[in-house]
Amino acid sequence: MKKDDKNRVIIFDTTLRDGEQCPGASMGLREKMEVGKVLARMNVDVIEAGFPIASPGDFEAVRALAEKIRGPEICGLARCLSKDIECCAEAVAPAGKRGRIHVFLATSAIHRKFKLKKAEKEIIKLAVTGVQHARKFTPNVQFSPEDASRTEPEFLAEVVRAVIDAGATTINIPDTVGYSIPSEFGQVIAGLYDHVPALNKVTVHVHCHNDLGLAVANSLAAVQNGARGIECTINGLGERAGNCSLEEVVMAIRTRADRMKVWTGINTCELYHASRLVSQLTGMVVQRNKAIVGANAFAHESGIHQDGILKERTTYEIMRPQDVGISGTDLVLGKHSGRHAFRDHLEKMGFHLSADEMERAYGAFIRLADKKKTVYDDDLVSIIQDELSEIPQYYTLEYLHVASGTDTIPTATVRLKKKGEIIQDAACGDGPVDAALKTIDRIAEVKGQLLDYSLQAVTRGKDAVGEVSVRVDFGSRILNGKASSTDIVEASAKAYLNCVNSFIVQENAGGKKPSKKRNARKKK
Ligand code: KIV
Ligand code: ZN
Repeated sequence: MKKDDKNRVIIFDTTLRDGEQCPGASMGLREKMEVGKVLARMNVDVIEAGFPIASPGDFEAVRALAEKIRGPEICGLARCLSKDIECCAEAVAPAGKRGRIHVFLATSAIHRKFKLKKAEKEIIKLAVTGVQHARKFTPNVQFSPEDASRTEPEFLAEVVRAVIDAGATTINIPDTVGYSIPSEFGQVIAGLYDHVPALNKVTVHVHCHNDLGLAVANSLAAVQNGARGIECTINGLGERAGNCSLEEVVMAIRTRADRMKVWTGINTCELYHASRLVSQLTGMVVQRNKAIVGANAFAHESGIHQDGILKERTTYEIMRPQDVGISGTDLVLGKHSGRHAFRDHLEKMGFHLSADEMERAYGAFIRLADKKKTVYDDDLVSIIQDELSEIPQYYTLEYLHVASGTDTIPTATVRLKKKGEIIQDAACGDGPVDAALKTIDRIAEVKGQLLDYSLQAVTRGKDAVGEVSVRVDFGSRILNGKASSTDIVEASAKAYLNCVNSFIVQENAGGKKPSKKRNARKKK
């Protein structure tokens, strides 16, 4: 099917912009590039890479994605202010014709009165001026009337008419506070088509938040009423309760094509991998019963269901796990398996690695196969993502020994390597994890406060790989980290060390002097 088919729904991914606004889910440049690469492989149409004026880090990320990511359009967000628009234009410029400027301005009465303190006329003027200014840099300009779903329908139509006249080529209708219900939101879109004939000349997107758990349903209702772009995020990440989940909305469109009568260009085999990657990089755990990508999404527990599945898969399965990138087969390779079979299996799982990455992944697999009787695909995903993580390895864990038990003072001995130098220390704690993290603090000369800690078995069995997610407050920054191992204390230490490494690198990159604390306790 052709790209300009009128039934093609554009997938606009905003994981790196709205998704990143999720408390605790912030990502650095390296993490954003990794997400950008997987989104490009997935074939999303547009990547909203950030809000360039918001911070130098955001600007850098948008610019880097615009320079390096091939395929999708690269979009940046801007308020209707010249400085925002100019900054955004500069950030997306390297993408050339694939660069997009997304300007937004709130239109609802509540925002006009309390937030903007502006009358309707002023709102229209600002929106028009913003779009016209953005058009000086690119013909690819998107406008969003923020809080559109709570805006008076006549005024919303007036704004939309004015910004199309001013040159907007995409109109995005947000349900900013996730207040709409599907029949109502569908009507907002239908009403706009009825009252703004020019809407047929542009692309209509929707951007639904999930405060009532209706973001996917509202997006589908909008599509059934003529919208042809959905703004969404991996794992539904986003402000408050999040955004429309990309994997859910894409699979709903695909699975119910009989009713929806539309399609997307998404390579759905990348969905699971993307979900795991984003969870890994942000430290935001995916709930087990999450649709499409949760651990239980394709698990059949009850005897009746299992019996039905064995007789005929479609009795209880509406999608095939393979279609979302879950191979459904456990790795049958062992520690004596060769590189060729290993590469073959990874490719079937959606990993396309360079020679160097393959070598590292293979090494990680052999180490795991040495410890664990059955290596499941999920174990492999977790271990490989750890191994290939681009978090700078300022310190690496060389050795960890913990002593704990009843009537034992939990103690850890840790050896870290820093540019060839080995540093060793020991500390006691409330438990083995606490002792290990305290020792890392001593060696790295930082003081992190653990805000969140979670441990999840990636697969079944007593020897399962454990995935640890941590959220750490270093005073000037709060960072998330994740790591996995069959040894949960080791996984905890590595997850924490990932945060420490990111902290040190970000502090140095930010031009800040190392804290006194870090200078004060230099050790051999
Ligand atoms: O939720 C919202 O309204 C937004 C806009 C900037 C599109 O994120
Ligand atoms: Zn939003």
